[in-house]
Amino acid sequence: MTENQTLTVRDNRTGEEYELPITDGTVRASDFNQIGKSADEPGLAVYDPGFTNTASTRSAVTYIDGDKGILEYRGYPIEQLAEKSTFLEVAYLLIHGELPTKEQHERWVHEITFHTFVHENVKSLMQGFRYDAHPMGMLLSSVGALSTFYPEARNISDPDVRHEQVVRMIAKMPTLGAWSFRHAQGKPYVYPDNDLNYTENFLSMLFKMSEPKYDPDPRLAKALDVLLILHADHEQNCSTNAVRSVGSSQVDPYSAVSAGIAALYGPLHGGANEAVLKMLRRIGSKDKIPAFIEGVKNGDEKLMGFGHRVYKNFDPRATIIKKACDDVFEVTGVNPLLEIAQELERIALEDDYFIKRKLYPNVDFYSGLIYEALQFPPEMFTVLFAIGRTPGWLAQWLELVDDKEQKIARPKQIYTGDRQLDFVPAEERWK
Ligand code: CMC
Repeated sequence: MTENQTLTVRDNRTGEEYELPITDGTVRASDFNQIGKSADEPGLAVYDPGFTNTASTRSAVTYIDGDKGILEYRGYPIEQLAEKSTFLEVAYLLIHGELPTKEQHERWVHEITFHTFVHENVKSLMQGFRYDAHPMGMLLSSVGALSTFYPEARNISDPDVRHEQVVRMIAKMPTLGAWSFRHAQGKPYVYPDNDLNYTENFLSMLFKMSEPKYDPDPRLAKALDVLLILHADHEQNCSTNAVRSVGSSQVDPYSAVSAGIAALYGPLHGGANEAVLKMLRRIGSKDKIPAFIEGVKNGDEKLMGFGHRVYKNFDPRATIIKKACDDVFEVTGVNPLLEIAQELERIALEDDYFIKRKLYPNVDFYSGLIYEALQFPPEMFTVLFAIGRTPGWLAQWLELVDDKEQKIARPKQIYTGDRQLDFVPAEERWK
């Protein structure tokens, strides 16, 4: 198998041939640099906007096989983790690379639980936002601000310091997320309740009013926990790439993660589930579905929540979310849009247009329905995604910091502008 693991490249400009090693199904972009290199000419480079076919790292965190619909964290299938684990245990797995022993788990849960509070000045900072501030804007700013509260976080070469920040971030993210939600509603911020588990405490900070103790419905807490597990990592996606790229400058992890939150904020990354809800609402009733599908097939618009860059068979997260829908609706009552979604899915999956293009429901097709049933406004959907993705971002950041092959991220460009113009002073140009 290892024989002939090379690529022969012939440069037709010069007739010269080069033999480049192939390792793990990749060739090194830097090996192309010797091709055509001279005193006057730079060597060959590769051009790949959006990194659609460029591996930027080796990683042992998450495995995806898009054709087979496989998603594994540290080798464990997402289906088993969603069914049998908890978000905090999955977070431990992602960060440490293996499942915790009983003692490790207890220590981990204790550590996370007792770092849920934030400095009062963070609260004042958040209170300074406009009444209608988008919660993602508040989240990314307050996570960035944490770097000023923990200046030791800059010492990224110390594993103990790194661990402390990892714990703090996983612990504080629900507090900051919940407060950004309360802010928009003009309600007082609720402090963490460390008697509750991770997801129950999050629900308490979101929804507690005058009752002395919030009593979360365990079925809702479990459904939310599953949703967080499903979003915990997804290998080198846009926001993870942002965390790694910013982290490659050796900045503190709060700043790197806040860059990840900024990337997630964009509609092409974290915002599709909101678009699904808008679409379902616009369709309005089951009898309008055929006309809508015709419009999609004519190219008028997309069927939001369908299709994926990587998954070309099914998105394993969508299958799990569909099950979680049932659990949530048992408590909250059925979201009337569910019927439309189910019928839309049924019709689309039988239609040649979607079958030929391998378009299946993705994670976002049903998640918005659950979030809405849990009383989250659409602006909060991406915040929930960010809380879930935090252990993944941090696991990838830890991997980056320890990876001797990594350098500061600094892509090349193909320069298309003018050269060597003569500057004409303003008084002459404006004559
Ligand atoms: N509805 C109708 N047609 C579609 C759809 C869709 N949702 N998605 C892809 N197509 C068609 C597309 O028009 C193209 O057709 P043709 O070959 O005739 O030109 C073909 O399928 C291939 O599509 P593509 O745009 O080349 O696929 P892509 O890999 O670049 O895009 C995608 C993937 C997710 C951006 C796209 O499927 C899409 O826009 N879906 C709707 C938005 C959505 O649900 N996004 C959430 C993604 S999951 C969240 C996450 O993991 O981050």
